[in-house]
Amino acid sequence: MIWARAAGARAIGPWLGWAVACALLAGCPTDEPVVDVDPIVDPLSRPAEPTLSPSSFQPSDDCAACHPDHAAQWATSSHAYAMVDPVFRALVELRRADFDGAQDSFCLQCHTAIGTRGGEIVPHFDWDALSPVVQEGVTCEACHRVSALERPWNSGHVIQEGGPVRGGIADPASSPAHEASFSDLLTGASFCGGCHDVIELGGLQLERPYEEWTEGPAPEEGRPCQSCHMPTTTGPAAVGGPSDRSLHDHRFVGIDVPLSEGFTTAAEEEVLRTRIGALLDGAASLDLVAAPFVPGEVVDVVATLHNHIDGHNLPTGSTFLRQAWLELTATDADGTVLYRTGDLDANGDLRDHWSSLDPYGDADLVSYSSRLTAADGRPELFPWRANEHSSGSIPPRHARTSTLFVPTSADTPGPLQIQARVRLRTHPPHLLRALGLEHLVDRVETWDLATASLQVPRGP
Ligand code: HEC
Ligand code: HEC
Ligand code: HEC
Ligand code: HEC
Ligand code: HEC
Repeated sequence: MIWARAAGARAIGPWLGWAVACALLAGCPTDEPVVDVDPIVDPLSRPAEPTLSPSSFQPSDDCAACHPDHAAQWATSSHAYAMVDPVFRALVELRRADFDGAQDSFCLQCHTAIGTRGGEIVPHFDWDALSPVVQEGVTCEACHRVSALERPWNSGHVIQEGGPVRGGIADPASSPAHEASFSDLLTGASFCGGCHDVIELGGLQLERPYEEWTEGPAPEEGRPCQSCHMPTTTGPAAVGGPSDRSLHDHRFVGIDVPLSEGFTTAAEEEVLRTRIGALLDGAASLDLVAAPFVPGEVVDVVATLHNHIDGHNLPTGSTFLRQAWLELTATDADGTVLYRTGDLDANGDLRDHWSSLDPYGDADLVSYSSRLTAADGRPELFPWRANEHSSGSIPPRHARTSTLFVPTSADTPGPLQIQARVRLRTHPPHLLRALGLEHLVDRVETWDLATASLQVPRGP
């Protein structure tokens, strides 16, 4: 699926064709970013004047006294990492340089919803001068003071200053610290969509797990995001509270372990890795099919990746940063490699456009993530400089088939061995190098989503 810049926030959907998009915009494509939404102001999430005061929100330490487990879990999550994430900061700095600070609030409206609504995210703001609750990113009260949702994308939450804390407990016990009330909104998927679906200024759709969720079987099954990303246990929700509450894990495990050394302890990191492994277990499977081979002829190897996730595409979220790809090697009976795709160059990069050692060396590379393209048709790394976003991700309960062609010669000894796996990683080395973060390359974990092997006998 391909998205292009187009007028109007949600009218984007699938590829419109340049003709339509350009008729709407009158005069594209251009090298300049096309901006049809006010780049500076959104009355809800990036208001011209503050609509709340950050000082009336409490940092997570204040909640930890009575909710120690929630606070400890959250502190290791990507939500707690959202404002200190060096990849985020480096990208914001780059965008800031492109627009001379004028659009600084755009990237921050979800990473710190309290900061942009509270007037702290002004052009050229100073990261170190932000108040603690703003530095906490997606902090407790960025979620628990939400009273309504205006749109399930681009920070669509109404945050109620001084309102009750809201959650999924229907009959909350009284607390000296706060009023509490049940909220249907927080138990549903659209609540997460409010931040997880991202549309760039100019209309380029960047992340859409919630929209994907609405297109799959999960809504009918009654499986919101929380059911997979906040698994439940039973216990007290607050110190001294009733002990039979259904508790929701606040590590918000996806595929990321915060990359910065020291953000989590080694023990916490181990827990996150185990949880990621559990989330990925059964998420996908890979089939390989090939007919018996005739020496001297090309062997067609058909690889099919199945997405077993009901919740959204595989992969999802910031797929333009992620890499998900097929690695496949074919060897003959002597162990000689006949064919290889999806292997890495000496820098750890795939041998595609971004490899500095072997650009486009892997002509058959099968990628399941997404690609940004600039107006001149060249691949682009950074979304605000791109005109088009094309995705290779697989919808819920769907599959994608690719055929690879393995050469043989008249004296190739059989049987052939095919080894394949689908790999997923959060940050490609070339991206970290482009952002001056090469010291983080070794911290990136690569996950095997699915593996398969096949023996191909000699034909008659
Ligand atoms: C609509 C809300 C929203 C906006 C606006 C937004 N983000 Fe994010 N960002 C998210 C969410 C949600 C994720 C998590 C997605 C995932 O992990 O796949 C995320 C993840 C990221 C990550 C990945 C973190 C990592 O290291 O794994 C980076 C980097 C990032 N955003 C940068 C930016 C930049 C730069 C901008 C502005 C161009 C921006 N974001 C605008 C919501 C937003
Ligand atoms: C003095 C102790 C105390 C402090 C401090 C405290 N809480 Fe609570 N909180 C409670 C109690 C008690 C409950 C009710 C638990 C129950 O009914 O099981 C509760 C319930 C909640 C609920 C569930 C509401 C619902 O209906 O689902 C949320 C969410 C919550 N607190 C968030 C917070 C946040 C965020 C902070 C920090 C800003 C915080 N709490 C600080 C004691 C506290
Ligand atoms: C049925 C279980 C399930 C449901 C429901 C679900 N997810 Fe996921 N989610 C997964 C699995 C498995 C992965 C890891 C594989 C992947 O990245 O697609 C994942 C990964 C993610 C990631 C990390 C993607 C990345 O590469 O950074 C984000 C963000 C995410 N989910 C958000 C959501 C949101 C938002 C919803 C609700 C709209 C949701 N999920 C619903 C199972 C689920
Ligand atoms: C990204 C949003 C988000 C953040 C950040 C967040 N929570 Fe929650 N929290 C939720 C959701 C959603 C639920 C309810 C899930 C349900 O009932 O389906 C919840 C439930 C709770 C509950 C009720 C008991 C339970 O486990 O269901 C408490 C207490 C709570 N959170 C405290 C906190 C505290 C304290 C922090 C910060 C340290 C925090 N939360 C951060 C989204 C968030
Ligand atoms: C206020 C905005 C906001 C809300 C609401 C929100 N998120 Fe997030 N979420 C983010 C941002 C921003 C990130 C990425 C932070 C980073 O790494 O820089 C993120 C990251 C995540 C990740 C980690 C993805 C990965 O790559 O590992 C998961 C999983 C996730 N969120 C699930 C949820 C779920 C489930 C909900 C709803 C209960 C939710 N989020 C609500 C903003 C939000």
